[in-house]
Amino acid sequence: MSRHFAAVERIPGDPILGLMEAFRADPNPAKLDLGVGVYKDAQGLTPIPQAVKRAEQQLLERETTKTYIGGHGDPAFAEGLLALVLGDDSPLIARSLAGATQTPGGTGALRLAGDLIARTLPGRGIWLSDPTWPIHETLFAAAGLAVGHYPYVDRDNRLDVEAMLAGLERIPQGDVVLLHACCHNPTGFDLSQEDWRRVLDVVRARELLPLLDFAYQGFGDGLEEDAWAVRLFADTLPETLITSSCSKNFGLYRERTGALIVRSEHERSLLDVRSQLAFLARNLWSTPPAHGAAVVATILGDEALKRLWRQELDAMRQRVANLRLGLVEALQPFGLAERFAHIGAQRGMFSYTGLSPTQVARLREASNVYMVGSGRANLAGLDERRLGDLARAIAAVCD
Ligand SMILES: Cc1ncc(COP(=O)(O)O)c(C=O)c1O
Repeated sequence: MSRHFAAVERIPGDPILGLMEAFRADPNPAKLDLGVGVYKDAQGLTPIPQAVKRAEQQLLERETTKTYIGGHGDPAFAEGLLALVLGDDSPLIARSLAGATQTPGGTGALRLAGDLIARTLPGRGIWLSDPTWPIHETLFAAAGLAVGHYPYVDRDNRLDVEAMLAGLERIPQGDVVLLHACCHNPTGFDLSQEDWRRVLDVVRARELLPLLDFAYQGFGDGLEEDAWAVRLFADTLPETLITSSCSKNFGLYRERTGALIVRSEHERSLLDVRSQLAFLARNLWSTPPAHGAAVVATILGDEALKRLWRQELDAMRQRVANLRLGLVEALQPFGLAERFAHIGAQRGMFSYTGLSPTQVARLREASNVYMVGSGRANLAGLDERRLGDLARAIAAVCD
């Protein structure tokens, strides 16, 4: 018999991770990394917030056991996160109509949601924006769901709400629709409140189950502001799924901290769904990693730490907003400010710049600027002192 793995097919690695490796290997000191989706400060580092450091110091002293936490995770984390996402005074929390299950990051929450749908709502498809975060595509397919798409941007790289709504109208009744709650990845184009209301109307009329992916709370307009659409859906509809990630806003990427939040019509049905989640999670990762959630619970449970964290998050958001405006301004001398004005209006770390794959390749070859082939740039990867260089490099591929 031949070796068991002899016929295993090699598949290509994640293109973004490949880009990261190519960037690392590039010896040119003038290189710019706008690829991988992490926040960076002016020094190009992804910092640990001070609030996280202080919480970790407290935990180091206070922690008395490393025994397993329960299937739904740390109750203090769930309580804090529910209030952060749904609002401190949410009646859904008071009436036990919403619950959080702690997961390994937002990705774990998405996979748990995918498995929940596959197991309890067989035959339901899931619909994603075109484009969306590439992992959405493979993750839901891996969970066994049929994946469909609704339009999001037009050919001229503009948000196309009319096409989106028409696409949503065509989704089979009862299917699941994934919506980016804020800071759409990869485009950076967010819906206005009016657009969200129109989307809600279609979701309600088609009796779709909304799954709101909330990976960037605090990176768009602010912690409360960014939760607006999530709260609109959760407060209006009897049933909503929300995946929340603490990777970006708490800087906890590798600690794998997140939750799947279920809003249900009755306390009884919430308990039914949560029993399924506990079963599914047990078979996926048994119990979730504890440390990141303990950090978040410590910060959210301590007014001074929470204040500090909010200030640090505000500073991260402000930095990216300034970089957006700074880049548009730096493009002004090249006569390109109007063409790229959308970069200033988009939200979150990412921008669909509108640059073609050929232009992206030329940027890398000629100017050592690393960006995903779709033209998505992680603006948080910029150093403000390099805005002029980037603008010059963009101008060189735009003639
Ligand atoms: C749209 C979107 N959803 C979810 C995630 C999941 O993040 P994590 O699993 O790191 O918490 C990300 C991270 O890049 C994202 O961009």
